[in-house]
Amino acid sequence: MEYKVITEEHFERVIEHLRGNFFADEPLNHAAGLCQHGGGNAELEHHSLATLQDQLSLMAVDGRTESATYGQIAGVILNGILRPGDTEEALEKLQHSMDDNYKKIFELLYGHSLQVDLFARYNVERIFDVRILSVDARFRGQGIAKELVRRAEQVARKSGFRLLKADATGIFSQKILCSQGFQPFSEQLYAKYTNEAGEIILPVEAPHIKLQLLTKQLNYENNKDIPSMQQQ
Ligand code: ACO
Repeated sequence: MEYKVITEEHFERVIEHLRGNFFADEPLNHAAGLCQHGGGNAELEHHSLATLQDQLSLMAVDGRTESATYGQIAGVILNGILRPGDTEEALEKLQHSMDDNYKKIFELLYGHSLQVDLFARYNVERIFDVRILSVDARFRGQGIAKELVRRAEQVARKSGFRLLKADATGIFSQKILCSQGFQPFSEQLYAKYTNEAGEIILPVEAPHIKLQLLTKQLNYENNKDIPSMQQQ
């Protein structure tokens, strides 16, 4: 497998990969019935492209020349920069969304994030935000997601980030992130995320039972190891 930084020329293929995999399979998207496999979603595509613009994202590409899937994207990790006020602004914009399913998902994610001020808690001004982890169904179970997370940390380190954060929506992504040194910070059980009538808003299927916000702090041996341009 070859691991590469995603640049603009790959954006279209990355979105195509997400349409065929993450958009339908991710536990919250699946629970909300956001997309069929292969189908698009304007808001999620916009969210993904905005994240790609930060140029911190990686993809795994099948590099086996003899393989029928040679050159295809096997997996991606989309990471963005999170700054103070970004989540508040995103939640405000979400109120104008016409897509009720997308709204349900992101109200949970943003609402949960806003319960704690990670910037103050960790004394940072920007966070390396792991937003989308996706592996093509044909390539799952081979350690690709784990490797993408490992390499994402190297990207974060090179850019001088002190804190990584992820909202992991399923049991497998939670396990993968923990295996790479992330620690659960807070969680929300899906069965307890209900509306005024007591109904579950997102009926996420087992084995996924909760949303978990995980963090990982990066330590640098001494301050001169932090890339100077992006120090904070
Ligand atoms: N069943 C059982 N175990 C699993 C499964 C599964 N379906 N998927 C992963 N695991 C376990 C593996 O056994 C492995 O554990 P081990 O190291 O103890 O052997 C570990 O998780 C790592 O597995 P990988 O092979 O690295 O994971 P993979 O490349 O298959 O990708 C992923 C996992 C990303 C969750 C993939 O199934 C996927 O794309 N799912 C749909 C999208 C999604 O849910 N993404 C995460 C949402 S959260 C976020 O994006 C921040």
